[in-house]
Amino acid sequence: MAFRMVDLIEKKRNGLELSKEEISFIIKGYTDGTIPDYQMSAFSMAVFFQDMTAAERAELTMAMVHSGDVIDLSAIEGIKVDKHSTGGVGDTTTLVLGPLVASVGVPVAKMSGRGLGHTGGTIDKLESVKGFHVEIEKEEFIDLVNKNKLAVIGQSGNLTPADKKLYALRDVTATVNSIPLIASSIMSKKIAAGADAICLDVKTGAGAFMKTLDASRELAEAMVQIGNNVGRKTMAVISDMSQPLGYAIGNALEVKEAIDTLKGHGPEDLTELCLTLGSHMVYLAGKAESTDRAREMLQEVIDNGKALETFKIFLSSQGGDASVVDQTDLLPKAKFITELPAKESGYVAEITADSIGTAAMLLGAGRATKDSEIDLAVGLVLRKKIGDKVEAGESLVTIYSNTEEVDDVIKKLDENIKLSPNEVKAPTLIYEIITE
Ligand code: URA
Ligand code: CA
Repeated sequence: MAFRMVDLIEKKRNGLELSKEEISFIIKGYTDGTIPDYQMSAFSMAVFFQDMTAAERAELTMAMVHSGDVIDLSAIEGIKVDKHSTGGVGDTTTLVLGPLVASVGVPVAKMSGRGLGHTGGTIDKLESVKGFHVEIEKEEFIDLVNKNKLAVIGQSGNLTPADKKLYALRDVTATVNSIPLIASSIMSKKIAAGADAICLDVKTGAGAFMKTLDASRELAEAMVQIGNNVGRKTMAVISDMSQPLGYAIGNALEVKEAIDTLKGHGPEDLTELCLTLGSHMVYLAGKAESTDRAREMLQEVIDNGKALETFKIFLSSQGGDASVVDQTDLLPKAKFITELPAKESGYVAEITADSIGTAAMLLGAGRATKDSEIDLAVGLVLRKKIGDKVEAGESLVTIYSNTEEVDDVIKKLDENIKLSPNEVKAPTLIYEIITE
């Protein structure tokens, strides 16, 4: 059916609900260029002020899913559960969760990108392992998941072009920060990538996209509702990103941290978040009758070494040198190591996550633009987390760099790690779990 875009903008501007047909018309027209940017800008602003109903959000998500290719993973046995994090600093969960849940039989068919950010994406991190590559054919990818329960492939094809175009438009029209638009954007990408069920890790705090618990909860609830309304079982964890997760921020450094965690001696917060997200993934995949039972199963495969073994098989199946798992000093190494000592004794009160991420980026761990080179060896390792006691002179952070001159990094860290003379409580790691 043909509509006039101007009428649909007006309808939304007046706070009325759009039909499925009207929403498909908008997304099709915007994708093929028959609806111009200026009308889509006005529409996005109308959504920003008038919001969308649950039905509209679900229709918008599915219209964006169908704007491009939809990955068919039906040749993979079992329920494909995907995990998505709304971004953070030093978030190593994907590297741990893949082998962890694969070890109890959950198929993990991960399509991943490089992207921008403080550190590289999952693929960049994995490329710290010599020989590892994600340039595999789709058939091989599916065979590997069926055989090993875990494989990673680079992003290919034309997934959610409507979202790509709309996200770029929102970026320059002050309409990024709209719950229905963010939620449909994220969910459309997961669904187009073939997920049957989705576990969301919505971060909250200084290093997160959503800085307050209320805003994070609103986004989490919106995404869970969309997922469940379009037939993808979806749950969300709201987790802390006031300080970086774990200790390591950097590509090879995070691979080592993931290996430590799979061996059962990773950082406490990273381990706990992985067990929580992992147990929900296992439960949604139908591999355990409860999340409590799922958690026991995951603890078991850490304790008996199976999770580590799965990681090795995964790496070598995609050309990687799996001996790094037992000898982590084979990972890329930075030339210079500098400690940042505490100037006074006290308790760590703040380690502002986004600024610590910026410091890692100054070292070259991340990409500022699409074409920047990434240095896999460099990064930061926190020696203390919020709430820890420190003595004057004790190291707060170890800086791994490939240049001798790290004054700007030290300045950034100095400004963003704050000590208090009084005891400080460690922040809550997991605020809420939203299942419907
Ligand atoms: N991340 C996305 O993928 N989409 C948004 O709209 C915001 C953050
Ligand atoms: Ca980390």
